[in-house]
Amino acid sequence: MFIDIEKSTDKIKNYQLLLDNLKYYLNKEDNLITNLSNLSAYLNYFLDDINWVGFYLYDGLKLYLGPFQGLPACTTIKLGNGVCGVSAEERNTVIVDDVDKFPTHIVCDSRSKSEIVIPIIKYDKLIGVLDIDSSSFSRFNIDDKIHLEKLITKLVDII
Ligand code: SME
Repeated sequence: MFIDIEKSTDKIKNYQLLLDNLKYYLNKEDNLITNLSNLSAYLNYFLDDINWVGFYLYDGLKLYLGPFQGLPACTTIKLGNGVCGVSAEERNTVIVDDVDKFPTHIVCDSRSKSEIVIPIIKYDKLIGVLDIDSSSFSRFNIDDKIHLEKLITKLVDII
């Protein structure tokens, strides 16, 4: 059961709350898809001004759509293609202030204006990426990067 968590209007405090309560929604005994499903719902609950949040998983050849919240999205992404494919290939978080200016950006929801993608790496192995879209320009900055990377570290600990 999900117990309503009182969110903060302060972005950093809100991330702290999100991270502090994360342990209740990630479970070592649960399957990866189960954890990612709850995690996408949890992020969708906590983060303001987003229109898509979810995971693409790596099968050794390409990224394929995993658990998410938002409109239906493209099902596969090649490494090096789109914001997700670049983040996965370079194994770095990518922040895009204006998706139309990102050369290989893949449009899934035409309302999306900015995006952040965080790679998920365990024991040097690419597991996939966390992708978040916003309908506002420049929605994501270094604070999002720092806290979302912490969240992914906690996820990686239990998978
Ligand atoms: N825009 C992403 C594709 C996935 S959707 O945003 C859900 C990209 O360029 O990789």
